[in-house]
Amino acid sequence: MKSAEVSILVTLTIAIDFVMGELKGAFVMPHGGIALDPSKFHTTNKTALEEAWKIHTACAQIGRIVTELQPDLILLSTPHGISDMNNFLLYLNPKMEGYANTDNTGPPPYVSVSVNSDVNVSRDLVQHFGSKRNVSGLSAYGPPEESTEPFPLRWGEVIPLHFMPNLNQTKVVILSQPSRRYNDDMPTMIPELLKLGSDIGKYFKSEKKTAVVIISADLAHTHSKDGPYGYSNAAQPFDDACGKWVENLDEQSLTKEAASYVIKAKSCGYTGLVMLQGLLSASSDGITSWQSQLYANYHPSYYGMMVASFLRK
Ligand SMILES: *[C@@H]1O[C@H](CO)[C@@H](O)[C@H](O)[C@H]1NC(C)=O
Ligand SMILES: *[C@@H]1O[C@H](CO)[C@@H](O)[C@H](O)[C@H]1NC(C)=O
Ligand SMILES: *[C@@H]1O[C@H](CO)[C@@H](O)[C@H](O)[C@H]1NC(C)=O
Ligand SMILES: *[C@@H]1O[C@H](CO)[C@@H](O)[C@H](O)[C@H]1NC(C)=O
Repeated sequence: MKSAEVSILVTLTIAIDFVMGELKGAFVMPHGGIALDPSKFHTTNKTALEEAWKIHTACAQIGRIVTELQPDLILLSTPHGISDMNNFLLYLNPKMEGYANTDNTGPPPYVSVSVNSDVNVSRDLVQHFGSKRNVSGLSAYGPPEESTEPFPLRWGEVIPLHFMPNLNQTKVVILSQPSRRYNDDMPTMIPELLKLGSDIGKYFKSEKKTAVVIISADLAHTHSKDGPYGYSNAAQPFDDACGKWVENLDEQSLTKEAASYVIKAKSCGYTGLVMLQGLLSASSDGITSWQSQLYANYHPSYYGMMVASFLRK
């Protein structure tokens, strides 16, 4: 090749790199109130308190990693947002805000979060996927993309976002999991979740913007007989299978093993995790292009919480 041709090629490659967006990282973060502020976690169990602090510290570390990655936007999947029975929803208000505290429903003080939404990307995702992927948009108190009122958020979104130090420089897109995730036949959603995740991954590859994905997820809710959902012997195996999935990046641990326990484990985060598996697999080299790390996987209270990162190798 002549040197002029080489230089044109190099320039083109650089230009393409420059305009193409990508997924810079993905994270699993809990939204249990204990993760937010362990100093307000009332327990006499020293081990449980230490675990709560480990989870909290890991969440703060994720916040620092996201800040270093400087993404244009954060795509956050919430299982506890405003939900449609069938569709995955994208919120379409330019501003979104809400509050949370350690007990979720308890008395003040609260922490509050206010974020700017990337309504262009939200609208684009709705148009891109729409009814062929059970995706739709939702606006609150005014026209889509124009409402002057903030879209209401609560603990499922506020707690993970609270750990992000630079929210005034990063826009947020929220995807709310449908409430059919509560149904006993939820595992039938697995193929759909893998496909949606993979399509979202491909979408970001073709976009000009860089993004990180945060899956807001708690694990099994049946760790304790004193908890609101009682005890199940499926809880620990479920949390272990999710941890194994992160460490080994093997789909089976999540879509077969964890899936076999999920109904009894009662995990609110499971659908988000499966969507994430699809998303990570959409990279050119598949899931092997990611390096995963499990920071914490504990249940200081009746529910399991896991903190994990997936960064490009
Ligand atoms: C959305 O797109 C419009 C027109 O392309 C642009 O003016 C606006 O700044 C964009 N908004 C966001 C939040 O990126
Ligand atoms: C959309 O949701 C319905 C369940 O309500 C499901 O049967 C269907 O397969 C879903 N569509 C896609 C494309 O996954
Ligand atoms: C964004 O927030 C950080 C931390 O709260 C603050 O230090 C910084 O000045 C803010 N930047 C802008 C542009 O508002
Ligand atoms: C204390 O918490 C740990 C970790 O959650 C748990 O394994 C242990 O059973 C708890 N101990 C008691 C006495 O409840």
